[in-house]
Amino acid sequence: MPDDLRVGVIGVGMMGADHAERLVTRIAGARLVAVSDPDTGRAAELAVRFDGVRSIGNPLDLVGDDEVDAVLIASPGFVHEQQVLACIDHGKYALCEKPLTMDAASSLRVVEAEEAAGRPFIQVGFMRRFDPEYAQMKSILDGGSLGRTLVVHNIHRNKTVPDTFTSEMIVRDSLVHEVDVCRWLFGEEIVEITVLAPTPSALATEGVLDPQIAVFRMAGGGIATTEVFVTNQVGYEVRCEAVAEKGNATIGLGQSVFVRTDGHYGGEIPDDFRFRFGRAYDLEVQSWVDASRRSEVVGPTTWDGYAASAVCEAGLESLASGTPVKVTLADRAAARPVHSSPAVN
Ligand SMILES: NC(=O)c1ccc[n+]([C@@H]2O[C@H](COP(=O)([O-])OP(=O)(O)OC[C@H]3O[C@@H](n4cnc5c(N)ncnc54)[C@H](O)[C@@H]3O)[C@@H](O)[C@H]2O)c1
Repeated sequence: MPDDLRVGVIGVGMMGADHAERLVTRIAGARLVAVSDPDTGRAAELAVRFDGVRSIGNPLDLVGDDEVDAVLIASPGFVHEQQVLACIDHGKYALCEKPLTMDAASSLRVVEAEEAAGRPFIQVGFMRRFDPEYAQMKSILDGGSLGRTLVVHNIHRNKTVPDTFTSEMIVRDSLVHEVDVCRWLFGEEIVEITVLAPTPSALATEGVLDPQIAVFRMAGGGIATTEVFVTNQVGYEVRCEAVAEKGNATIGLGQSVFVRTDGHYGGEIPDDFRFRFGRAYDLEVQSWVDASRRSEVVGPTTWDGYAASAVCEAGLESLASGTPVKVTLADRAAARPVHSSPAVN
């Protein structure tokens, strides 16, 4: 193993700041050396919290900086393409938060850039693959004792979201996680998507279709359903049940401490996804650091990012029309098996 991986973080809002702190406090073999954000005050404020961290004004300068070995991209999705392509150009490993880019065409350009470079550089931040519960479910299904997986049911609920969270973001930013989970659990592409919206909750922002129900048809004939409800008022709830021929497996029941008191029983439902998936983020970033130090890429690939973008694009079309929409993926050698499990340490 070479020396510590010197990491730069691009975009230090909610996720970037969380990852920066993770890199400094919980990740072995990495050193946070630089941060960059157009909100230079925010970047400077974060940098001074840690020893030896520089704030670099232009994110592309951070990518090209000689003291930065690898880049964690946590900027908004609409600037990912340019930043990921810059990482590939400079031959630097990057962990890019989901979504890879905002649409299928731009995601495919990233796949093609890696192809042209002759090797992968990018891990896409579908961190649920690193969540211990999801990883265990995947390993049970792959083990074959339950038989073939027939159906997957997902629930994805937030207590509330900012008023700026639109119907489209429910597909692109929320449902995209279940798109990746289902491709990964089934080990197959999604070939058709339907996104339906019941009469919205009166508590949803005016004009926003919340909740939404998505149905995926898998290439092998399986079906997945997902409810996304981002203003459910209860808390952050992510559950997944896989129904197979000889049994079923469920994760996300959130059974931690169970308290009985004063005529009631139960536990807490946290409303912050960083709490529910904290361990998954740690394992994701640690795997990325370890793989980068070995000059490898593990976990979700640019092809996974591209396929997810294509499914979401079709999902938005379905949300508008109310009818099923076929998902057509580029036919290329770059397509990698969707069932590859990440190397979880
Ligand atoms: N994996 C997950 O569970 C998860 C959860 C939340 C967000 N995300 C993803 O993380 C990314 C960031 O989301 P967030 O919630 O932290 O957003 P945020 O709005 O809190 O932070 C984004 C930051 O990026 C900065 N920024 C804007 N333009 C930039 C540019 N051109 N270059 C660099 N930085 C720029 C903003 O100033 C801001 O500080 C998004 O891609 C989002 O989808 C992933």
